[in-house]
Formats: sequence, C-alpha cells, structure tokens
Amino acid sequence: MLLVTTIAAVRARREELARLGRRLAFVPTMGALHEGHLSLVRLAGEHADEVWASVFVNPAQFGAGEDLDRYPRDLERDRELLAGAGAVLLFAPGVKEIYPQPPATVVDTPGLAAGLCGAHRPGHFGGVALVVAKLFNIVQPHVAVFGAKDAQQAAVIRRMAADLNFPVEIVVAPTAREADGLAMSSRNTYLSAEERRAATVLHRALQSARAAALSGERRGPALEGLLAATVGGEPLARLQYAAAVDPTTLRPVPAVKGRVLLALAVHLGGTRLIDNLLVEGLE
Ligand code: PAF
Repeated sequence: MLLVTTIAAVRARREELARLGRRLAFVPTMGALHEGHLSLVRLAGEHADEVWASVFVNPAQFGAGEDLDRYPRDLERDRELLAGAGAVLLFAPGVKEIYPQPPATVVDTPGLAAGLCGAHRPGHFGGVALVVAKLFNIVQPHVAVFGAKDAQQAAVIRRMAADLNFPVEIVVAPTAREADGLAMSSRNTYLSAEERRAATVLHRALQSARAAALSGERRGPALEGLLAATVGGEPLARLQYAAAVDPTTLRPVPAVKGRVLLALAVHLGGTRLIDNLLVEGLE
C-alpha cells in the first residue's frame, strides 16, 4: 500500500487513475482503526476498482476540552489494517498540509447540525463538513463510504455533497458491533473494564425502544422516555440525550410515521459514546 502525505502526491496518483479510467472509492477516517472501519473499506471495494483511505485527526472538529490530544494514534498499525482490508493508498497528511492557514471559509449545514450531538458539540459538524469537503476536492472519489453509527455526520455529509454538487456517491455502511451489541468505536479503548460492561446499555436501550415501536408505540417523546429510562437504570451511565427523530431532517417526531431514527449519547466516566438504530416499516 502506498503511503502519501502531500496533496500534490495524491493529485498526481489521482490523475494516473483517471487516465486508466478506474473507479475510485474513498474511506476517510481519523485512524485508531477497528473492525468497523475495515468493514467500510471492504464495502468500498464492492463499489470501485480501487479503495483509498485517509487518516487525519481533524482539529477543526474537536471542541475545547474534547479529546484531540489524547485521541489514539498509531499510523503503522492503521496502515497494516487498511492494506489487509484491501485499500491501496493511504493519505495521512499533517495538520499543516490540510490547514496551511486558519480557514476563512465556512462549510456548514446549520439545520442538520443543530440538534442531537451538534447541540452538545458546537462547531463539530462544521469542522467535519469542512474537512470532508477538502478531502473530496483533493481525492475526487466516485464513491465515499461512512458509518451509520455517526448518523448525524452521514446526514450532514450527504447534504453538503448534494448542496455543493460534489460528483460523489455517498454510501452509508451498517454499524459494526461487538458480540454483546456495543457499537465499535475508537473511543471504546478509553473505557475501564467496568465501564465497558456498562456500555452495553446503549444497545439495550435502543433495542427496547425499537421493540416498543414495533409493538405499536408511535409517540416520539414516549420512545425517548423509554431510551432514557433504560440508560437511567445503569448506575455508571450518564445520559446526554435520547432522541427519536426523522432520519433525513433529524428533527424530533411527535408521532412516528413510516420510520424513525432512535439516537443516544451517553457518558461513561470520561468517555462519551453514541449509538443509534433506524426503525422502519412503522405504518
Ligand atoms: O468519522 C470520522 O472518522 C471523521 O469525522 C471524518 C469523517 C473522517 C472526518 O474527519
């Protein structure tokens, strides 16, 4: 696998690929890779002739007091894992390569970024949209793959790409889970053994609210109440939000019709975890 750290080198390789008429799929990441990321790479391989990935811990999407400094970094390990999953090029730029000067341009989707995680992480989705727009311009993929665990991020990126006419197909891959249901996340490595056991409460809460929806509960606030009650039953967990929203607009749904996205953010000690579940077929 080719390791590339400059935009110029990516562009040169991209021109070569265009000359060969090959279709390119791209998986942007912040590294600290786990099976969830690798499933994105494998899915990307089904959509294109070549898969490229990036590893860039994007300072623009971390707020003051968040885990930018302690975010796990191990490029050599990431590189081996990506190669094993079938990626042929890894773009791993330094911060100065992506942000040679503080950006004066804002890329934002205020309507989509206002609620859920955005309400608690001001500026986060602007930072995500900005770096993904830059990466799309640098890499120029035909397809880009993102994980469903970050449902709000996927909605923001999908809308940003459509509004700005990026010629890229956005594919959202199912959340990879541990055997006990915990959504895979680079931040799971922060959990103590006790917190790791307690972390299954997110999946349990989503499953029980889903069961209620499938048994006829259509009131959004009632589904949110069920999510919150399950999380409240776990002494180590502190709920940040429990939401039942429209999967496209991310607005709360007073009465569910058709489908609903159930979403949670929960603190376990100093670690913040998110998870969600899309429930469909609710006529
Ligand atoms: O999901 C992530 O890892 C990041 O938010 C992304 C999409 C790579 C942008 O930095």
